[in-house]
Amino acid sequence: LIASLEQVDQAYIMVKPDGVQRGLVGEIISRFEKKGFKLTGLKLFQCSKELAEEHYKHLNQKSFFPKLIEYITSGPVVSMAWEGVGIVPSARKLIGATDPLQAEPGTIRGDFAVQTGRNIIHGSDSPENGKREIALWFKEGELCEWTPVQEPWLR
Ligand code: PPS
Repeated sequence: LIASLEQVDQAYIMVKPDGVQRGLVGEIISRFEKKGFKLTGLKLFQCSKELAEEHYKHLNQKSFFPKLIEYITSGPVVSMAWEGVGIVPSARKLIGATDPLQAEPGTIRGDFAVQTGRNIIHGSDSPENGKREIALWFKEGELCEWTPVQEPWLR
């Protein structure tokens, strides 16, 4: 096996409550799998107000902060840890612009969302935040480090 020369990063990707309730979990996971990223953590999770406030603490002076916390805690989310070369900028491309009306068709928000306050998915904005957010949302033992077997499954 020839190791990749490029740095592998991690991103925290979260399907927000509207994405879960609209049945978009499979579609979203599928896009990340097909792109070629590796899933290392996955859970359906009802988050507390405290956790939501910690995750979005850099935004706590914004006028939309209370609405954002209410939205994220309104139902279960799907928390995911993904890794791969260039995962953070690539995930942001797959996700599309924060305002879904500005997001290009072909992106997740461009294809499935209309409003910023209901934009179905979150992705880390830097590799440092990827690590921080994964540590915040996952407990020790919930993540899997794994290497695909070399034996082809399909012949
Ligand atoms: S900012 O103001 O530039 O820091 O905000 P931005 O980077 O565009 O967005 C940061 C996160 O806040 C969410 N957001 C909102 N939620 C609800 N209502 C409004 N008006 C709103 N504006 C921004 C936005 O979706 C980002 O959340 P994540 O989960 O990272 O996508």
